[in-house]
Amino acid sequence: ADRPPSPVNVTVTHLRANSATVSWDVPEGNIVIGYSISQQRQNGPGQRVIREVNTTTRACALWGLAEDSDYTVQVRSIGLRGESPPGPRVHFQTLKGSDRLPSNSSSPGDITVEGLDGERPLQTGEVVIIVVVLLMWA
Ligand SMILES: *[C@@H]1O[C@H](CO)[C@@H](O)[C@H](O)[C@H]1NC(C)=O
Ligand SMILES: *[C@@H]1O[C@H](CO)[C@@H](O)[C@H](O)[C@H]1NC(C)=O
Repeated sequence: ADRPPSPVNVTVTHLRANSATVSWDVPEGNIVIGYSISQQRQNGPGQRVIREVNTTTRACALWGLAEDSDYTVQVRSIGLRGESPPGPRVHFQTLKGSDRLPSNSSSPGDITVEGLDGERPLQTGEVVIIVVVLLMWA
């Protein structure tokens, strides 16, 4: 009972050449305070883990992706005393080409709003900690 159940209905939307959005649902009746996303590129270097706590957001932008490449993504729920097992492994392939960002857009390294594509903004007062870990292949 300490660990929440895994996320369900994990889907990838807003698929583009260099970004995508992953979203999911959390089964009702569980206290979930955050999530942890593991993004893995197939046949390429690098795993990225995105971890957010104190958020009720059920979606996350993935940015800086390589074009025309295969990725998998898995989501864990974070509860008060631990994380769920990883949810289903979802495969997606980025589009060919390059995302054309408006000239007044923030830099691609800015993780706050990049690629959200009109998802709801973070609520005022919502405390969000974002930790991004890039583990390069040894
Ligand atoms: C998962 O998706 C189905 C179909 O849209 C929906 O009926 C169900 O409520 C969703 N699960 C959760 C936990 O929201
Ligand atoms: C989450 O929010 C609670 C209550 O606002 C706060 O005490 C706690 O420090 C926050 N945790 C993190 C990791 O920000």
